[in-house]
Amino acid sequence: MIFTVAIDGPAAAGKGTIARAIAAETGFAHLDTGLLYRAVALRSLAGEDPVTAARGLDPVALDDPRLRRPEVSQEASRISAIPALREALFAVQRGFARREGGAVMDGRDIGTVICPEAEAKLFVTASPEARARRRWEELRAAGLGTSYEATLEEVRARDARDAARAVAPMRPAPDAVVIDTSDLTVAEAVAAALAVVRDRL
Ligand code: C5P
Repeated sequence: MIFTVAIDGPAAAGKGTIARAIAAETGFAHLDTGLLYRAVALRSLAGEDPVTAARGLDPVALDDPRLRRPEVSQEASRISAIPALREALFAVQRGFARREGGAVMDGRDIGTVICPEAEAKLFVTASPEARARRRWEELRAAGLGTSYEATLEEVRARDARDAARAVAPMRPAPDAVVIDTSDLTVAEAVAAALAVVRDRL
């Protein structure tokens, strides 16, 4: 069966948690597409040309813990505005979306660019403050010390850049269901998302 669940939205809104829960419930394969941009960003920070790095991306490199570092987040946001780079990452994402057995993908442009015909589309969002708090707690738990204020600043900068870029800006697809997780528990957010998917299965 071909069935794509497209989950877009800003950083730390809960996309990953929701995507993993949907994948566990449906048995669909999951791809966090932010990791593709992060893997390219890591190589760009090491001095490689980002477009060349995107063309030769090794999916095995996607479990590197360094990918979560704040400087990698900012670099990913910066390089993701390069059209040729997005183009280089298109085929792998497109292939994943329409793979046999179903796919759950989270990112910024899955429902708008990568798979506009996705059977279920969600736009998961939350206030910048709620997202900064979550991201800060994650970073602290991972032993990457930083302040809440710096994290909020980082979240705002990335939102502005991701929404303003000319190519594939972050925005909800016209047919996406918007879920604001600011005042929802994880269980409530997951239940709301699963209801949308079940409705379309
Ligand atoms: O989701 P995550 O925070 O890991 O993404 C890192 C950066 O990669 C984002 O800020 C965004 O600029 C870029 N990205 C993108 N399109 C996607 C996924 C991520 O432009 N589908």
